Amino acid sequence: MRILGLETSCDETGIALYDSELGLMAEALYSQVKLHADYGGVVPELASRDHVRRILPLIEQVLEQSNSQLSEIDAIAYTAGPGLIGALLVGASVAAGLSLALNKPLVPVHHLEGHLLAPMLEPEPPEFPFLALLVSGGHTQLIAVQAFGHYQLLGESIDDAVGEAFDKTAKLMGLDYPGGPRLAALADKGHTGRFVLPRPMTDRPGLDFSFSGLKTAVALYIRQQELSEQDKCDLAADFQLAVVDTLLIKCRRALKATGLPRLVVAGGVSANSLLRESLKTLGAEMKVGVHFPRLQYCTDNGAMIAYAGYCRFRAGFSIAPAIEARPRWPLQELTATAD
Ligand code: KG4
Ligand code: ZN
Repeated sequence: MRILGLETSCDETGIALYDSELGLMAEALYSQVKLHADYGGVVPELASRDHVRRILPLIEQVLEQSNSQLSEIDAIAYTAGPGLIGALLVGASVAAGLSLALNKPLVPVHHLEGHLLAPMLEPEPPEFPFLALLVSGGHTQLIAVQAFGHYQLLGESIDDAVGEAFDKTAKLMGLDYPGGPRLAALADKGHTGRFVLPRPMTDRPGLDFSFSGLKTAVALYIRQQELSEQDKCDLAADFQLAVVDTLLIKCRRALKATGLPRLVVAGGVSANSLLRESLKTLGAEMKVGVHFPRLQYCTDNGAMIAYAGYCRFRAGFSIAPAIEARPRWPLQELTATAD
């Protein structure tokens, strides 16, 4: 069975072809980073228009790379939400068009399920059940995953998502978009311990997060004093450590509370090297396996959508060609079997 996956929820056009026997056959990604850089963030209308420009050539590229024909595809999967509505509609329209033209089933995919299942593309995929820490630009969630399609939300951010906190703090420090990876690169050149920052909501029970106060605390330091280049690196290092400490405390708490035997970390911020190292150490300490996607599958990509699409299709989920897109879509609405 061969599934074409289309990802267009935000500022990356990602296309991939997944085969149930051969695994991932080909993939292509176009990042719009340069397009949005001048604006300091993603401009939704520009994002939609660029997806329109890129999507068909990228599909052709993937078919060529995998030496396959459109007629060999068994189903077309696409990100149906959550995301930017105009951007989602580009993938949804192309997927519906292909489905109609080829008379092949259409499989809508939840973007976060794509992230959650991305570690399944690794040589040693995690088994169910697991605790998932989903850390992206739009979401920070702890989820108990009992099986495919069974997602129980244990906690989430009540304000900024972790990636958003990284991006906004980077902007405050004068770094260009996309700020998260740039801030992390600065942090790696800095020393921790000079700037006192909170570990928000760790002193009370529960598994929710809050990251907007951390950004405000950094803003206060920036306002109080002129920062040298080294000061900026040190402040970035303390910010990164505060974020990672907070995530670690909540992961430890969730693992203890649920007794789940492994931890899966996914979403753009799971590319952060301090977070990866610290969670591996936590896993060793708690005798819990820790799984990440490889770096290229932490951030948005077509491979995770093709794979999640394959899982959905196998479980009986497909729809007649229609253009469905939801900018907001709670993960808990998903089930494991189609009715
Ligand atoms: O999963 P993703 O590509 O898009 C969403 O679904 O949101 O995540 C993007 C987020 C951005 O906020 C970006 O700044 C953050 O992931 N990010 C990082 C790193 N790489 C990407 N944050 C911290 N450290 C990194 N190395
Ligand atoms: Zn994403």
